[in-house]
Amino acid sequence: MADDSIFLGASRKPDDTYQQAESLLLKFGNRHGLVTGATGTGKTVTLQVLAEGFSKAGVPVFCADIKGDLSGIGAKGEDKDFLVKRAADVKLDPYTLSASPVIFWDIFGEQGHPIRATISEMGPLLLSRLMNLTEAQEGVLNIAFKIADEEGLLLLDMKDLQSLLVNIAERAEEISARYGNVTKPSVGAIQRSLLVLEQQGGTKFFGEPALKIADIMRTDTNGRGLVSVLAADKLMMNPRLYSTFLLWLLSELFEELPEIGDPEKPRLVFFFDEAHLLFNEAPKALLTRVEQVVRLIRSKGVGVFFISQNPLDVPETVLAQLGNRLQHALRAYTPREQNAVKTAADTFRANPAFNTFEAITNLATGEALVSTLADKGVPSMVQRTLIRPPAGRIGPLTSDERQTLINASPVAGLYDEMVDRESAYELLQKKAEQAKTETEVQEASADSTGGWKLPDFLGGESKPGPRGGQPRGRQTVAEAAMKSVVRSVGSSLGRALVRGILGSLSRR
Ligand SMILES: Nc1ncnc2c1ncn2[C@@H]1O[C@H](COP(=O)(O)OP(=O)(O)OP(=O)(O)O)[C@@H](O)[C@H]1O
Ligand SMILES: [Mg+2]
Repeated sequence: MADDSIFLGASRKPDDTYQQAESLLLKFGNRHGLVTGATGTGKTVTLQVLAEGFSKAGVPVFCADIKGDLSGIGAKGEDKDFLVKRAADVKLDPYTLSASPVIFWDIFGEQGHPIRATISEMGPLLLSRLMNLTEAQEGVLNIAFKIADEEGLLLLDMKDLQSLLVNIAERAEEISARYGNVTKPSVGAIQRSLLVLEQQGGTKFFGEPALKIADIMRTDTNGRGLVSVLAADKLMMNPRLYSTFLLWLLSELFEELPEIGDPEKPRLVFFFDEAHLLFNEAPKALLTRVEQVVRLIRSKGVGVFFISQNPLDVPETVLAQLGNRLQHALRAYTPREQNAVKTAADTFRANPAFNTFEAITNLATGEALVSTLADKGVPSMVQRTLIRPPAGRIGPLTSDERQTLINASPVAGLYDEMVDRESAYELLQKKAEQAKTETEVQEASADSTGGWKLPDFLGGESKPGPRGGQPRGRQTVAEAAMKSVVRSVGSSLGRALVRGILGSLSRR
C-alpha cells in the first residue's frame, strides 16, 4: 500500500464484485471531510479507520467519543470471522491488528486527563454563546474583559469572572460613564448564567493548567500520531458546552499554529462528531466565523472532518469546503429524508455506473459512497465502497483498560491536579480588604451566592491600598500583558485578523 495515502476500502462494480482500492491522499487531508449516515450505518467505524490511518502516517488526531465506542481504537482488534472476511473482500492483505497510541481526555476528569481552558482564552464571544447571553449581556461581558485587561486582572477560573462581575456591579455608574451602559440587572443576569455553567461542569473546565496545544499534537517514539480521544458521553448532555468547547479548540489551533504551505500530510486532524450541534441555533455571526476558521485553518495544515447523520446539518458554505466525502446509508421515507438524500447525492461527482440517489438508500452497513480529492485537488468520481475493517477494536474499552492507558499516557501528571494561582479573585479580594481597613467600614456582607464567597466591594471606587497588594498587582499586570503579547505573535497575518476571527482572546 502506498504511504502517501490512507487505505479506505474497495469499491464495487455494479455486479458487486471487487473493483479497485479506494484511498484518501494524505496531502489532501487538510482539505477537510464529511462522514454522514443514519444511525448504525458505520460512521464511527469509518471515523476509526480514518483516525487509525492518520495516526499510522504520523498525523496526530483529535476526536470526541460520543458513545464511548471509539475508545476501542486504543486496543488491538480481534480477528473475528466477519472482519477477516471483509478484509479479504477489500483485499486488505495482510490484515494486521493493532492498537493506536491514545491519550484520553475528559472535561470532567473522570474518563481521561482533565482538559481545561482559562476564561480569558475562551473569550467573551464564546463565553456568551456558552451562557446563552443576550446581545446586551454580551456587551457587558465585553466590557468586563476590557476592564480586566486594563486593570491587570487575570481571568483564569470561574471565581475570577464572578468576582470581577461583583466588582463591576458595584462600580456600575463609573463604568457606564466610561464604556456605555452597564446596569446591575444585566450584570446580575450574567452572574446567574455563570452559576448555571458552574453546575454544568464549568468549575472543572475553567482554570489551570490549561491545555497546551502541543499536547494534542504529539507523536510517539515509533513516529505514529497520538490519537486524543475526548470522552463526550456526559459532555453531550450539555450540547452547548460540547460544541463551544470544540469550537474553542479549533480557534486555539488556528491562532497558535503558523501558516505552512501545502504540507505532504496534515499536521493534525480534528474530527467533529455530532456536527449538527455546532450549527444548530448558532447565531449568524458565529456561523460566519466558523466558516472562516474552517476555510483558513487549512493553510495551517489542520484537517477538519465533520460527522453527522444528515448532510443538511452542515451549512452549504461549510459543506462546499469539505473535499473528502464518505456517505453511509440514509433512509428516504419522508419528504424531508428524501430531500436530504437528494442533497447528499447532488454533492457527488456522478458515476455513470449507478444512480447516486438510489445507491445511498441501498448501502449496507459499513459500506459508503466515497469521493476523495484526487490529483490537482479534483473530487474523484463517486464509488460504492466497502470500508475496510479497523485495526483496533470495534467497541469500547473496559474501564480497567482505559485506566491502564491513562496511567501510561505521555501527559500523565501534567494536568491531573488543578492549580489555583493568584488571579482576579484573589486580587480583588485583597483590594477589598485593604479598602475595608482603611475606611474602617464594618459591613456584614459575607453574603454568599450559591456557594461563592464573594468579597464586599463597598460601592463606588474601591481604592487599591498603598502597600501590600501593589507589587503583586504589578506583577500580574505584566503577566497579563505578556500573555497578550505571546498569544498574538505568530502568523504574519498578525493579530488583528486572528483576533477578529473567533474573538477567543477577548481583547480590543
Ligand atoms: N468498516 C466496517 N468493517 C466491519 N464492520 C463494520 C464496519 N463498519 C461498521 N461495521 C459494523 O457495524 C456496526 C455499526 O457501526 P457504527 O457503530 O460505526 O455505526 P454508527 O453509524 O456510528 O452508528 P450510531 O449512529 O448509532 O453511532 C459496527 O459495530 C460493526 O459491527
Ligand atoms: Mg457512532
